[in-house]
Amino acid sequence: MNVVVGVTGGIAAYKAVGVIRSLVLAGHDVHVVATDAALRFVGRPTLEAISRNPVHTDLYEGVAQVRHVAIGQAADLIIVAPATANTIAKIAFGLADDLLGNTILASTAPLVLAPAMHTEMWQNPATTHNIAVLRERGVVIVGPASGQLTGSDSGPGRMVEPEAIVEAALAARGPRDLVGKRIVVTAGGTREAIDPVRYIGNRSSGRQGVAIAAAAATRGADVTLIAANLEVAPPASVVLTRVSSARELADATFAAAATAHVVIMAAAVADYRPEAVAEGKIKKETQGDRLTIELVRNPDILQTLSENRRDGQVIVGFAAETEEDPGALLELGRRKLARKGSDFLVINRVGWDAGFGTGENSVVTLNRAGDIVMEASGPKASVADRILDLLS
Ligand code: C5P
Repeated sequence: MNVVVGVTGGIAAYKAVGVIRSLVLAGHDVHVVATDAALRFVGRPTLEAISRNPVHTDLYEGVAQVRHVAIGQAADLIIVAPATANTIAKIAFGLADDLLGNTILASTAPLVLAPAMHTEMWQNPATTHNIAVLRERGVVIVGPASGQLTGSDSGPGRMVEPEAIVEAALAARGPRDLVGKRIVVTAGGTREAIDPVRYIGNRSSGRQGVAIAAAAATRGADVTLIAANLEVAPPASVVLTRVSSARELADATFAAAATAHVVIMAAAVADYRPEAVAEGKIKKETQGDRLTIELVRNPDILQTLSENRRDGQVIVGFAAETEEDPGALLELGRRKLARKGSDFLVINRVGWDAGFGTGENSVVTLNRAGDIVMEASGPKASVADRILDLLS
């Protein structure tokens, strides 16, 4: 795992060496981003020797590699140890006046802070407020412990011991239960060309599929994301194939599925496409008041995948339905499951204001027998994890 260790300027910086060492010994690739103040407490050669990587401090070094964001984008986990009151305040405000601030802002990885400061600073209302803001944002705060501080004083403010920081940070990172699994995820909505400038499409943004792909990669899977017209950026941690129409999506999915352990069909695939695509733009001057477009059925990718699944391969389908009655929605899902033959079917209600394009989702998942095996509501990232829990 790629772990960034931010070291800031506190006496406890010497203990950051223990954090780095323990991560390296556990097999992680550790990149240290130190503030200038940190290097007054612990030397760069020590940090480089222990981390086995160059130590970065300067925002204006490595500009050609866009280092100010690259380090954060590549990180699977960021630990700041020690985190001074000053750095905590800067992170709470989203400041980016040094490399560590930029790295943290550019990252979506879990962030773990190990505060270290004198008791008065820890208990100052400014610090208390900043810590509360960060906790609310999902940042994990480890410690501080209470005990002997640098001077003759003692009280809360001591940095937690390196082993405990590493343990808390790895727990915050979540499970790595999909290492070695090849997972194909389709996401987005297909577009069926009418002429060179027009298409028949749907309102799928791709958010749920992208969240599943990102979560699976975070949990260690090798993920191929087959992306149809996404409205959101795909995660950097997946192999990406971009497609547009249902038939392109079918070709890419069948190819990727040949070696996959799991295929998750989260894409909204057009059931029909125009029988003929006009070579030039259709003009109302020649069409008059009415235009008829004849549609033909697209291949059902999910059904074909299920019929041809490899031994042990798990196929997951989605059903986005406008049915409002929960009982009828389930019935619809059960019939779809029987028709498509997938191992799981994730059912969600969609409408003008639900499902598509929003950040939240509410799903019911059926197994092959048609039993409810999981229900989840909330941010699409947490729904993604619940789906993966089931597969894991
Ligand atoms: O039949 P319906 O479109 O409601 O089924 C939805 C599920 O089937 C989704 O998992 C979708 O990705 C998949 N599907 C497919 N090929 C199609 C239509 C839908 O694989 N032509």
